[in-house]
Amino acid sequence: MSIDDQLAEWGRGAQALALFHATFAQGWIKFLAEPQDLAAVAKFADQDPDRVRDVLAALIANGLVVADAGRYRVAPGVAEAIADEAPIDLGAKIENARLVARQVEDVVRTGAAPLTAEEAVVVARSFAFKPSPGARAVVTMLFEPMPEMWEAMREGRLLDVGSGVGGFVLTAATMLPGMRATTLELVPEVAAVAADRAKALGVDDRIDIRCMDARDFVAKVSYDVAFWAQPFFPAQARAATLAMIKRSLRPGGLLLVQELEPPSEGPGSTMRRMIAQSRGVPFARPIEELVAECVEAGFTDARIITADFGRVALLKA
Ligand SMILES: C[S@@+](CC[C@H](N)C(=O)[O-])C[C@H]1O[C@@H](n2cnc3c(N)ncnc32)[C@H](O)[C@@H]1O
Repeated sequence: MSIDDQLAEWGRGAQALALFHATFAQGWIKFLAEPQDLAAVAKFADQDPDRVRDVLAALIANGLVVADAGRYRVAPGVAEAIADEAPIDLGAKIENARLVARQVEDVVRTGAAPLTAEEAVVVARSFAFKPSPGARAVVTMLFEPMPEMWEAMREGRLLDVGSGVGGFVLTAATMLPGMRATTLELVPEVAAVAADRAKALGVDDRIDIRCMDARDFVAKVSYDVAFWAQPFFPAQARAATLAMIKRSLRPGGLLLVQELEPPSEGPGSTMRRMIAQSRGVPFARPIEELVAECVEAGFTDARIITADFGRVALLKA
């Protein structure tokens, strides 16, 4: 492909993302969950119908909207992603796609890509399950190959390390009424979202949300299981975090770690690596290396599980 063609293709991608972002942010995408005619969309958008027709044509050309007998609605894949039962917040994923593009620029220009608190919330939301039927179905599937962890959580205590907005822990809490958990999150604004979500779900009496550096946590009780969001922890914090998890788990307690994505030299992967490593976070480490890191910290009996969603490892304290 010539550089002109390549540039045109990248430009189209950037323009499509801008179109999706703006129409999502302006509420068009959710409005079009139900079929609407041009007049209704123009009224909703409070814009000239000719301009609205152009926007709809762009949405159709990009596969986001379909037209049928003079009515417009979002394409089936978009409808699934915006449904209440979808596992992840589509708005946060769109925001995160824009954020990653900006971070690429930041790293090239300055060698760093720091996140504001607001951006840390976007990142955490874009990775988090919404406690929806879709998320519950995914969590059920995730734990099928590791029933011992699910059983240990059922009436046990979970330590969720790097909890973000609590996607995993809150979904699990809605499925396991006997589970109690402590969550550790560094960024106050992110932990505050987790706390609000726990309250809204009515599980805040069982989930102790702490805003702190995970390395400084001192357990008052012993935990049955721990989940470490390792892909977000910089190199200099990792050994102390693992030592804290080891101290906090009961003997034989389980630690779950997840491989973020398989190592790859593809264009997307290399750019995400550039951003992660500018923050000192090792990127896309293979599960074997993660296991070695945990074994170094004193964990034993590693079991690597390869599933459709990727690879995870379960270890014992
Ligand atoms: C994006 S979340 C992971 C997703 C989350 N487990 C879920 O289920 O929604 C990872 C979080 O780890 C947090 N983090 C990174 N280093 C940390 C540390 N030393 N102590 C506590 N949290 C930390 C980051 O602020 C980030 O919000």
